[in-house]
Amino acid sequence: MSTDTNADVDTESTSKCGASTSEASTDKSSSNCGASSNTDDSSGSKCGASSSSGSSTSNSCGASSTDDSSTEQEVGATVDDFDAEPGQLIAVGLGPGHPEGMTERAKAALLAADHIVGYTTYIELIPDEITEDADDIYDTPMCGEVSRTEESIDRALAGNDVAIVGSGDPNVYALAGLALEILESKGATASMVDFDVVPGVPAAQSCAARLGAPLVNDTVSISLSDHLVPMPEIESRLHSVANENFTITIYNPWSRKRRENFEKCCEILLTHRDPDTPIGVVHGAGRDDEQVLITELGELEELGESEIIDMTTTIVVGTEDTYVWDDRMVTPRGYETKYDY
Ligand SMILES: C[S@@+](CC[C@H](N)C(=O)[O-])C[C@H]1O[C@@H](n2cnc3c(N)ncnc32)[C@H](O)[C@@H]1O
Repeated sequence: MSTDTNADVDTESTSKCGASTSEASTDKSSSNCGASSNTDDSSGSKCGASSSSGSSTSNSCGASSTDDSSTEQEVGATVDDFDAEPGQLIAVGLGPGHPEGMTERAKAALLAADHIVGYTTYIELIPDEITEDADDIYDTPMCGEVSRTEESIDRALAGNDVAIVGSGDPNVYALAGLALEILESKGATASMVDFDVVPGVPAAQSCAARLGAPLVNDTVSISLSDHLVPMPEIESRLHSVANENFTITIYNPWSRKRRENFEKCCEILLTHRDPDTPIGVVHGAGRDDEQVLITELGELEELGESEIIDMTTTIVVGTEDTYVWDDRMVTPRGYETKYDY
């Protein structure tokens, strides 16, 4: 399988099991699942990948990148390159970002893992007592999700119990699906690595909780990130969803590269909903820099240039029934049609 990406996501390396660990491992134990460094037995880290070469290219992904060039990443080692009894691979959702927001099951899964793999920002969200307990932490900067996911799979195929982490839930615009796709492309199976998913609280729910009760009726999520879904398709989906009376949660709303997507999104929403439709904007729910704003749809586009809307913001667009009461967004579930209160 080859995985198409562009500069907005992941061009940092063709990371095989160990090929690029020197660039990113936080070196908690000097244990890397590296074909060239698997002589370090002290941590119990195993690497069975026969491939040790990996070319590092500069990481041109990211919100501020202006490079639109595409790269094609190919899966490196296949299941035949590993001799070891495979370890376990678990995709763990960390929830919104504070330790209290993590489930007990997520904490237990991370404590049980030999290796923890993830985007640096997410690794930093994990309590120290968990990361210090791991044999190895493999973290890479923004993007790199394909190489990072492949790295986690290779480490599991090499015999390590691996947790790959992400914010929120692994099934919401996250890596659970990619992990299964890459496993399949390597000729492995999910059962071989005892693949499991540990759910976490998704951003939509964390953000809704900060806003009141905007999501208690039918809700649809849309991501404005166009690195995997072309913008015309996103626009068409937005039209369909906004045309129905659903609450909409908007993920990945803004980056310098996506300014036009955000503006287009505001324009589409306003063709279907009144400018005074209540919206909630939540930046960094559960994190130190959390910001919460309830305002109206007509004000949304201007907010695109303000600090509250960026890559860690989720926007909740109310339905035609949503109202604001005492600084809380409320979307009626419909009880009032059947009951007197
Ligand atoms: C790649 S998606 C990952 C979603 C994640 N798997 C989840 O379940 O929430 C990243 C987007 O999630 C949203 N997001 C993640 N963490 C957030 C937070 N703490 N507060 C608000 N939005 C957040 C933002 O829209 C961000 O652009």
